[in-house]
Amino acid sequence: MVKLGVNVDHVATVREARKTDEPDPVAAAIMVELAGADGIVCHLREDRRHIQDRDLRLLKEVVRSHLNLEMAATGAMVKIALDTKPDMVTLVPEKREEVTTEGGLDVQQNYERLAEAIPALQNAGILVSLFVDPALEQIKAGAKLQADYVEIHTGLYADATNAEEELAQLEKIQYIAGIAAKLGFGVSAGHGLTYQNVRPIAEIPEVEELNIGHTIVARAIMTGMEQAVREMLHLIR
Ligand code: PXP
Repeated sequence: MVKLGVNVDHVATVREARKTDEPDPVAAAIMVELAGADGIVCHLREDRRHIQDRDLRLLKEVVRSHLNLEMAATGAMVKIALDTKPDMVTLVPEKREEVTTEGGLDVQQNYERLAEAIPALQNAGILVSLFVDPALEQIKAGAKLQADYVEIHTGLYADATNAEEELAQLEKIQYIAGIAAKLGFGVSAGHGLTYQNVRPIAEIPEVEELNIGHTIVARAIMTGMEQAVREMLHLIR
């Protein structure tokens, strides 16, 4: 059965819009676990636009399932990971100006940096996953680095504007998932997945885990709206 890691970043995005203390991504993580998810994912960005260092420390304390920290492969972030010791680190590319992670890592371009970060993390008992586009050269370069997992970027599949393009992207992901598994990687996938497009990805046999954030937080806001309004009306009337 495919596992679900829930990314709680955008709970923090709503909090940071007011720089206040609600909603709390750590409380959300507890609810996510109570609902049966297999893991919690968060991305500590260098610009700290959503998850803060304190959130990560608290998540490490309260998460009972599996904590997957997405981060850039920089010296400063590796130090934070070594201090916090999440179960897994997913190395992602990061650009300050981007709205969200725009694509997978260029493994070859960042080879030296990754070759330093990966063993440092693994020696501390942290599993390392590489977030990569569904492209053969990335998987091959990743294999040389002996990462434990690859997370296949599903963003282009999610952004497809017609059925033909969507199928072409799905086939690429299916193919790369097969190759990655043969090379010995654990395989996960994520980015841009929604209630509408997730099923074909969940059906890929090699995909062990899906990491999903925005669409779940978006749905939680909508499904919780009615109760939240009723509670406020109860208070004021
Ligand atoms: N996987 C990775 C590596 C990501 O960077 C993100 C976004 O933070 C996700 C999964 C989740 O993407 P989404 O929020 O679009 O579900």
